[in-house]
Amino acid sequence: MGSTTENQMIGVILCSSREPRVCPQISDFIISTIKESEIYSATSPKPTLRIIDLAKDTLPLYNEPTIPSQVKHHSGYIQPHTITWSLEIQKYSAFIFILPQYNRGYPAVAKNAIDYLFNEWTGKPALIISYGGHGGANSARQFSEVLNGVKMKVVGTMPALTFPGREVLLKALKGEDLGLDGKGAFWEEERKGILKGVGELFGLLS
Ligand SMILES: Cc1cc2nc3c(=O)[nH]c(=O)nc-3n(C[C@H](O)[C@H](O)[C@H](O)COP(=O)(O)O)c2cc1C
Repeated sequence: MGSTTENQMIGVILCSSREPRVCPQISDFIISTIKESEIYSATSPKPTLRIIDLAKDTLPLYNEPTIPSQVKHHSGYIQPHTITWSLEIQKYSAFIFILPQYNRGYPAVAKNAIDYLFNEWTGKPALIISYGGHGGANSARQFSEVLNGVKMKVVGTMPALTFPGREVLLKALKGEDLGLDGKGAFWEEERKGILKGVGELFGLLS
């Protein structure tokens, strides 16, 4: 039985800023997979899963004159948007990154969001769940290096969700409903990998 010392928050970071996009559908699928799982029901007190949407928490391309690794308090930042982002990220104990793959790599918006801060990320557990026409394993592998760079504890399991065929990929590109919450939904098998990663993430919560 898992246990956490206090009611901690896990940030579920939506790493697509496209319009339209499927990232919110995929995060809903992942959050419901977690909330309906044995590991979640056996964990007390339950961590709160809260969405952080990089399409809404918009940051300009990195324009902070300071080097974040040298900043020990948010008052050390110059730009107001960096201070807001720092205060937001400080609230969370761990993160789940919902990460698409673009051109065999991670989306620029995800790297930009990481680069703005350093100490706010350091030491916190991270689970990367990628998706794409081929599952996005390249994106996840490359992004794990970025998270290692800010000294996050990236869990070993990185579930990669592959769209089952061209028809679904074309729907995803248009941001159409993939039917992940209905009958005939795919990725039933993939739920196991997601929960394996979640188990590792919960295990790192102090
Ligand atoms: C610019 C761009 C590049 C893409 N490159 C890849 C790729 O390298 N591999 C892959 O599997 N899918 C690729 N795709 C397909 C995406 O995985 C798919 O469009 C998915 O819907 C993107 O997530 P989003 O809708 O949440 O932004 C790419 C999509 C875009 C828009």
